[in-house]
Amino acid sequence: MKTLQRTLTIIKPDAVRKNAVGDIIEQFEKHGFRILSMKMLEISKHQAEQFYAVHASKSFFNSLTNFMSGGPIVVLALEKENAIADLRKLMGATNPANAEEGTIRKKWASTIEFNAIHGSDAEDTARFELGFFFAGFELAK
Ligand code: CMP
Repeated sequence: MKTLQRTLTIIKPDAVRKNAVGDIIEQFEKHGFRILSMKMLEISKHQAEQFYAVHASKSFFNSLTNFMSGGPIVVLALEKENAIADLRKLMGATNPANAEEGTIRKKWASTIEFNAIHGSDAEDTARFELGFFFAGFELAK
C-alpha cells in the first residue's frame, strides 16, 4: 500500500565539499520527491551527538560526529509516496562498496563513513529527524 510520507535527508560535508549538492537535489526532483524545506548549515559536535544518539555505543561514533560537525551540510525535508524506502533505495547501500549503479552513494560516497548522504530509516526516526532540523512552519504546505 502506498502512503504519503515525509523523510529527512542530509547532504553530508564530504558531498558538499565535492560540489555534489546540485546533482543530488536534481536526483530528488527527478525521482518525484517534493521539497518541503531546505537549508545549508553547520552543526556543532554536541548537535551531531544528539542527532546520532542511537549510535552512541558504536566504535565509529566519535569519528562520525566529528565528520558531521566538520563542515557545512544541506538538510532537506522531502515528501513522496513511500518516501522513506524510496529515498533509501535512491541513496544506495551505507557502504558504497555495496551500492548499486545509479545510486547517489555509488556516485558520490568514498567510504562507509564518508558516505555522502543520510536518510531517515523509519517513520519514527523521520519524525524525530524532521523535528530536529525544521520547525513546522518551515515546511511547505
Ligand atoms: P547514516 O545513514 O548517516 O547513518 C549512520 C552513519 O554512521 C552512516 O550513515 C555512516 O556514515 C556511519 N557508519 C555506519 N557504519 C559505519 C562503520 N562501520 N564505520 C564507520 N562509520 C559508519
